[in-house]
Amino acid sequence: MTEADIRRLEARDLESLAALERCQARPWSRSQLEVVLDAADCCVLGAEVAGELLGHAVVARLPFEAELQAMLVAPVMRRRGLAAALLDAVLEQGRQWCSERVLLEVRAGNEAAIQLYRRAGFGEDGRRRGYYPPLDEVADASREDALLMSRRP
Ligand SMILES: CC(C)(COP(=O)(O)OP(=O)(O)OC[C@H]1O[C@@H](n2cnc3c(N)ncnc32)[C@H](O)[C@@H]1OP(=O)(O)O)[C@@H](O)C(=O)NCCC(=O)NCCS
Repeated sequence: MTEADIRRLEARDLESLAALERCQARPWSRSQLEVVLDAADCCVLGAEVAGELLGHAVVARLPFEAELQAMLVAPVMRRRGLAAALLDAVLEQGRQWCSERVLLEVRAGNEAAIQLYRRAGFGEDGRRRGYYPPLDEVADASREDALLMSRRP
């Protein structure tokens, strides 16, 4: 396991957050990132190793629940416990907000993320059929189900 510093990101972290996002196929845009960094009801958590931003999680406060909206670890740093550490901080944020549950949606084919969430105690609440557009832009690729998961923070 790699020791990471977990902290709440701020507007000044926009550049490094946008650079981290670009390591995935469908990155959030700069303006989407600006909105969540700025929003009072959102918390963007970052995982840094030796001062470099290598993972993040976005959690939003809903009236009764908290929703995990994004989670990403740089490919070179995967399987070292960064996402698990970020999830701990997400749950802590949910406790601070007095959220009843932490909710999330994940592509049904995203085995890595589903294993991560199961191991962190998230249970499956249901599915949204055909919720996600295909990851590959091939003409006959079909849409993918969303798995709905949650746990108490
Ligand atoms: C999913 C993701 C965030 C996991 O990040 P990570 O830092 O590699 O995860 P961790 O090292 O903290 O893993 C914790 C546990 O999750 C599970 N896990 C993580 N990656 C896994 C994989 N590729 N296959 C199977 N289980 C996996 C394991 O149980 C792991 O514990 P272990 O390594 O002791 O076996 C990362 O793969 C990622 O950024 N993927 C692309 C973006 C994404 O899918 N985000 C989630 C959207 S809902």
